[in-house]
Amino acid sequence: MNTQKLKVVLTVKLPDAVETRMRELFNTTLWLFMTPMPPDRVLEVARDTDVLVTSINDRIDADFFANCGDRLKMIANFGVGHDHIDIAAATEKGIMVTNTPGVLTEDTAEMTMGLILAVSRRFVEGAELVQNGEFSAWSPTFMLGRRIFGKRLGIIGMGRIGQALARRAKAFGMSVHYHNRKPVSARISDELGATYWDDLDQMLSRMDVVSINAPGGTGTQHMLNADRLARLQPHAILVNTARGQIVDEQALAAMLRNNRIAGVGLDVYEREPAINPELIGLPNAILLPHMASSTIEARQDMGDRVILNIKTHQDGHRPPDRVIPAML
Ligand code: 8YV
Repeated sequence: MNTQKLKVVLTVKLPDAVETRMRELFNTTLWLFMTPMPPDRVLEVARDTDVLVTSINDRIDADFFANCGDRLKMIANFGVGHDHIDIAAATEKGIMVTNTPGVLTEDTAEMTMGLILAVSRRFVEGAELVQNGEFSAWSPTFMLGRRIFGKRLGIIGMGRIGQALARRAKAFGMSVHYHNRKPVSARISDELGATYWDDLDQMLSRMDVVSINAPGGTGTQHMLNADRLARLQPHAILVNTARGQIVDEQALAAMLRNNRIAGVGLDVYEREPAINPELIGLPNAILLPHMASSTIEARQDMGDRVILNIKTHQDGHRPPDRVIPAML
């Protein structure tokens, strides 16, 4: 067993218990601020470490790999999405990349289901009205939302999170439809009672609720462009807890402003953390600050995966969560 401590540098503040364990196991340098490490500093620390622990805040692109020197052997990403890391460039340089799949699935699905309910039943508008002292009388035509029971949910991307959402939606009485690169196994499709749509355009035009649960990256960039968004029915709602770049945000804002879609629930944005100003202030848009996986449990489990991946690498074995180009 290799007993020499690896040098590990964090570009992001992690839960205390995770940081403590990392310091026990590795020669760890923490990042103590809630704001992200500036990009030039990320590059500087990368030149003098064995392992870099990154997050969605970092841009680990071809330029980074061209300039990060020869010491860096591993990027252990804190998060499942890796569209901010150029996996091909990492592989070419012999740098291993790992992520944290599986441990934030239920949390993200919970938040997605919550957004579907919140937009359909107008939670935020109702809560604001009460806070503003505007609840003066009940009336049968007051604060009408739309029932989700019996409605059609179209899930774009039927991976772990899409399937976890489907289970929840089924329990709420929705019928589950999905578009994916390929159909899920017969066992899963039977369990979920899910209908596969090969043609995304057709699915979009038939759904009451659409949820985006696909990975980000060049393959899904503006998958929902203006033409595709225009296929949504005027009473439909759209929820995105995956990646902002999948939707043409400008086209979406225009549709909301023209009441061409009933509402949206967004947790992610095209130019995060910047949000298209056209989306702000609309009663039919619930906007959250990328918090779908923000639970105490998920953050601890994600940290544990990061530690497991680094420790396995240190011990000379293959880390369980390697991201390899063949998977993309
Ligand atoms: C994380 C996410 O909070 O894991 C992901 O891909 O999008 C988020 O839920 C974030 O990425 C941490 O880096």
